[in-house]
Amino acid sequence: MNYEPRNLLVTGGAGFIGANFVRHWLRKRGDCRVIVFDALTYAGNLDNLSGLERDPRFLFVKGDICDEAAVHGLLEAQRIDTLVHFAAESHVDRSILGPDDFIRTNVVGTHALLKAAKSAWIDRKLVPAHRFHHVSTDEVFGSLRPEDPAFHESTPYAPNSPYSATKAASDHLVRAYRETYGLDTTVTNCSNNYGPYQFPEKLIPLIIINILSGKPLPVYGDGRQVRDWLHVEDHCRGIELALLCGQAGEVYNFGGNSETTNIEIVRTLCTLADERMAERSDLWALYPAAPGAQGKRALDLITHVRDRPGHDRRYAINFAKAQRDLGYSPARNLEQGLRSTLDWYLTQTSWWQSLLGRDYAAWMQKNYSRPG
Ligand code: NAD
Ligand code: TYD
Repeated sequence: MNYEPRNLLVTGGAGFIGANFVRHWLRKRGDCRVIVFDALTYAGNLDNLSGLERDPRFLFVKGDICDEAAVHGLLEAQRIDTLVHFAAESHVDRSILGPDDFIRTNVVGTHALLKAAKSAWIDRKLVPAHRFHHVSTDEVFGSLRPEDPAFHESTPYAPNSPYSATKAASDHLVRAYRETYGLDTTVTNCSNNYGPYQFPEKLIPLIIINILSGKPLPVYGDGRQVRDWLHVEDHCRGIELALLCGQAGEVYNFGGNSETTNIEIVRTLCTLADERMAERSDLWALYPAAPGAQGKRALDLITHVRDRPGHDRRYAINFAKAQRDLGYSPARNLEQGLRSTLDWYLTQTSWWQSLLGRDYAAWMQKNYSRPG
């Protein structure tokens, strides 16, 4: 172990990966305090952290990462030595419809955090050792052709969506604060995550919920785009390893060893959902519109719709460096992971139904119906 975090500030800790990370960290590391700092945008949800309010090591603070003074105040008051930065606007389709929020949070917000960290840790030396860990994406590398080698840490950046362009900008700012001011940083770039608590605008939860609701399953274009799916728990373990064993100034890639086309993901989820419905007639009353409750096949709900503009064709990750230097490797295979994720959404009905009741349903209706 190279570094021993004591007091963590987790930005975006009420979102999908952030909440999984906070739960993972508190389960694994008994001695640290975790302060979640989150603006609770449409994607942030206190239900993702429910139960933790009783843990004396945990604190939630509502706030915006663009508010440099608030961040600085927290770093000082809570004696934060480790900042794990998840907060972002994270959905590519939303970035295409409206990039402004992405520039603000992902670029300006990351810069505000870096300024606050530099002031507290470099200029004022408030703690003896510090770490700024930035969570980023493989989307900064652009799109691969079928024959191309997987992305590695030195692949040139070539972002294609407003989302990935803002994440690329934030990665560069983190690098600049390391090189220019000596901030101790680590950056991890990972592939598409899936698992519990994922907001149902992303492919896997959207497909599961649409199957259970008997709604069309929208597949963009031909559905042959490839992603390397990573279970969120494997990602959280990777971040833990990067914090404890990663070298300041380094970048690590995390992948899931699970390159799969979107259409295969959708078909697999259809098969798994039908199987569950056949095994458990008690689910029929809960999900009466699901094809499996009506003697029909979920596969028949698949609907090819207009493709996403600038849609990246393939992502693939070479995580040999993380394997060698951190001992990282993904523990779950995709089918196991999809099965357990489907089961999570089957049992956590009130979690996702309360989201459908918020502005989400209206937003999806207005912005997101994509006839073929
Ligand atoms: P998410 O959209 O589920 O959650 C984002 C969280 O950030 C929410 O809780 C939201 O309230 C908070 N937030 C947004 N703007 C904020 C602001 N201005 N101030 C404070 N909080 C704010 O995102 P996610 O899927 O959990 O992704 C987390 C991080 O991981 C992001 O940086 C994303 O780029 C990166 N990432 C995600 C994936 C993926 O597959 N989901 C893959 C690679 C990298
Ligand atoms: P998404 O979950 O939005 O993640 P990202 O765009 O960051 O990769 O999408 C994953 C893939 O699934 C992507 O190729 C777009 C595609 N997709 C669909 O085909 N239909 C959908 O309804 C959604 C949300 C995504």
